[in-house]
Amino acid sequence: MIPGKVSCLALMGSPRKGGNTALLLDAFCRGFQQTYSQAFMEIIPVAEKRIKPCRGCDACKGAEKSCIIKDDMQKIYPSIERGDMLILASPIYWWHMTTQLKSCVDRFYGMDYSLFQGKKIVFLSTFGSTQAESGFTIACDSIASMACFLGMDFVLAWGISTGELSLKENPIALKEAERLGREFLLP
Ligand SMILES: Cc1cc2nc3c(=O)[nH]c(=O)nc-3n(C[C@H](O)[C@H](O)[C@H](O)COP(=O)(O)O)c2cc1C
Repeated sequence: MIPGKVSCLALMGSPRKGGNTALLLDAFCRGFQQTYSQAFMEIIPVAEKRIKPCRGCDACKGAEKSCIIKDDMQKIYPSIERGDMLILASPIYWWHMTTQLKSCVDRFYGMDYSLFQGKKIVFLSTFGSTQAESGFTIACDSIASMACFLGMDFVLAWGISTGELSLKENPIALKEAERLGREFLLP
């Protein structure tokens, strides 16, 4: 991977524009672009897209070899394929990523899994509880298993509680997210 040419796709799973997760992701990306100024970065707010849930028809496993559902995933698939690095950014909803992001991730089922091999994956999250066990660690475990299955390199998981301070009121957390992006090391 040539750092200058790195392509990074962020799937933003919060339905709240300018909410905690959006601010966290922006801060991380800002830092990342300070170091990798030539990097191609794309952020897709999946909650604003029309993404139907996988219906398990298995057409993608047959002659079609790709997902037959016609919705915005058809435009998102090439971005996933292109990216060297995939960021999943999501608030914790009921001990996991949001439904909007999970619907998108479920649709990876229709892709050629070998395309994920060697890509980096990052998980950025915000959650209301002051205990990471209230969902963040469970989501991390799930993403780690998914990354392992797909041959991806799960390089960073970072989450912050918004229970006492929203991200808007927490410049220290935003600075930390920016630093993590800036000091993020590509091989
Ligand atoms: C439907 C729903 C479910 C939630 N479930 C959890 C949860 O299981 N654990 C937790 O710590 N916080 C939970 N929260 C709190 C959010 O994760 C938290 O407020 C987050 O920072 C919101 O991010 P956003 O501003 O990007 O939407 C939940 C919030 C909502 C709306």
